Amino acid sequence: MNKSTRKAIIAGNWKMNNTRPEAKELLQAIKPLVANAENNVEVIACVPFTNLETAVNVTAGSNVKIGAENVHFKKNGAYTGEISADMLTELGVEYVVVGHSERRQYFGETDETVNLRTLAALEAGLKPIVCVGETLEQRELGITEEVIAMQTKIALKNTCEKCIKNVVIAYEPVWAIGTGKVATPEQAEDVCAFIRKTVEGLFNKEIADGMTIQYGGSMNAKNCAELLAKPNIDGGLIGGASLKAEDFNTIVQAAVEG
Ligand code: PGA
Repeated sequence: MNKSTRKAIIAGNWKMNNTRPEAKELLQAIKPLVANAENNVEVIACVPFTNLETAVNVTAGSNVKIGAENVHFKKNGAYTGEISADMLTELGVEYVVVGHSERRQYFGETDETVNLRTLAALEAGLKPIVCVGETLEQRELGITEEVIAMQTKIALKNTCEKCIKNVVIAYEPVWAIGTGKVATPEQAEDVCAFIRKTVEGLFNKEIADGMTIQYGGSMNAKNCAELLAKPNIDGGLIGGASLKAEDFNTIVQAAVEG
């Protein structure tokens, strides 16, 4: 199995942007632009909780899938302010971002809670987009691979072979997120290939070869083609550039071309 047989996935991560009317407008603009990607690229918009129902309704019948940006790991209970996996699936949500570096940095997310969220998402039938990535300090210390291996291994702890096919990994170097400082295609390729090797060590070659591994961090309409042409980069998790329909579509079209 190689890149051409893996599912390419372009996912927007809107972060804390867009009210419901704004979400509706953006998705209505995106839908016709990306319709031609239906057979080649999975197109996803991960949106704030308050936009989920609107987003699911606006994209119904189209090839745009909807994801949440986080999920709690408990099924229900006294966890004020949190949202469970069942609450998301009931809305028609298919994907969820887990362990984004902003959640690790600002909201106390740890490798252990990333693992629990991944397991909770899978159990409910959601497809987690699990984010891993090193900081600038870690890269400069030469421990990128150690950090990535640790994050990947802990995030996937106790995931069963049957559900692993629903896991997407996003390599997002923290120093490249929202900074305009994109990783070079070679840097991104090296780490995505390393993640695949790590998954092979945890499971087997078939599972590793079949896994979609995205790059994220200042990917935009200008730099996407070079990144997406790399053999181990199967898609992108897009922040800033996902808020503009034309830019997001340019990235989707670059993925169609592979
Ligand atoms: P960015 O964000 O594209 O704005 O750098 C990517 C992400 O955080 O997923």
